[in-house]
Amino acid sequence: MKLLVCGGAGFIGSNFVRQRITDHGDAVTVLDKLTYAGREENLADLRDADGFAFVHAGIEDAGAVAEAIAGADAVVNFAAETHVDRSIAEPDAFITTHAFGTFVLLEAAREHGVRYVQVSTDEVYGSIEEGSFTESSPLQPSSPYSATKAGADLLVASYHHTYGLESLICRGSNNYGPYQYPEKLIPLIVLNALHGDPLPVYGDGQQVRNWIYVEDFARGIGHVLAHGAPGETYNVGGPDEAVNLDVVRRIIDLVGASEDLISYVTDRPGHDRRYSLGSEKVRALGWEAQVRFDEGLERTVAWYRDNGAWWEPIRSGEYRAYYERQYGRALGDG
Ligand code: NAD
Ligand code: TYD
Repeated sequence: MKLLVCGGAGFIGSNFVRQRITDHGDAVTVLDKLTYAGREENLADLRDADGFAFVHAGIEDAGAVAEAIAGADAVVNFAAETHVDRSIAEPDAFITTHAFGTFVLLEAAREHGVRYVQVSTDEVYGSIEEGSFTESSPLQPSSPYSATKAGADLLVASYHHTYGLESLICRGSNNYGPYQYPEKLIPLIVLNALHGDPLPVYGDGQQVRNWIYVEDFARGIGHVLAHGAPGETYNVGGPDEAVNLDVVRRIIDLVGASEDLISYVTDRPGHDRRYSLGSEKVRALGWEAQVRFDEGLERTVAWYRDNGAWWEPIRSGEYRAYYERQYGRALGDG
């Protein structure tokens, strides 16, 4: 199969591309804008694979998309701004990429008559006190990130309804694993714990997330691409939920750091309390998560511990300025 993977230089996209090339022998063109979160290094081991190509462009660039999509059997779109805190501080790019960028990709997919998979998130449903969201739950996004992702989902669905595009939507829960940019909870806590830096916990730390190991989500997306019904949405949630503070404590144990590093900081505005996804529909297609949280977290901590060459350039670049703005203190200040 020949795939156009947009946003394939990011965390989940690069894991997906690796799986498609290694396990399925696909030819993959990655189109990526290389924002702060996208890095060609994430694909370094795949550069010489048969049929691999990289295009440095944004999904909002219709000319570049038209060239890249030629000959593809399907498009999988990961391209997005993905950090809730950044969407609260500076929403502009979220609107350009999620709304206009998704529109450009949909137009190209329609013109070429190819299958289209939109990678989306459980955050479009908003927060849930008890129980789990299904695919027919109402969309009640609460941050500029989730609102623009929800907007993109609605546009994707409209292209199936109106034009008959073979479009599908895959909504994942919180991912963790190798190659995740350390602005997100798990890699941030792992790297800070390894360095003896404070571990910032928002509010009371009692928020709950449904964690999925990135390779499980990548396989879920591949499964939906191969077996999903056009026009349908599939939730792809992880096997375990965890309270943020427990996640931080488990990482402290795995790293061998001190609990004294925990630092309660001002809560995120509009912070969603709990996410929970029901994934029966994708299970009925034959997908199952394989990695439980305990095992995945251990693997993730080991990967960050062993891959300093991957994160050292991040911790000394743009990230330092971001960190200072977000947490009001410099990295390494103790
Ligand atoms: P990421 O931030 O690591 O990667 C995003 C990638 O998109 C980067 O390579 C970036 O350069 C690229 N990009 C951004 N804007 C672009 C544009 N305009 N054109 C082309 N490329 C662009 O994000 P991620 O965690 O890998 O998330 C990938 C997708 O999965 C997103 O759509 C996100 O909403 C969704 N998702 C993420 C999670 C999670 O927990 N990380 C959970 C569910 C769904
Ligand atoms: P995050 O990884 O940003 O994912 P999302 O907001 O998409 O769920 O955050 C996961 C949870 O961890 C969320 O409840 C916010 C919280 N959090 C902290 O407590 N401290 C931090 O430094 C970060 C980045 C997140």
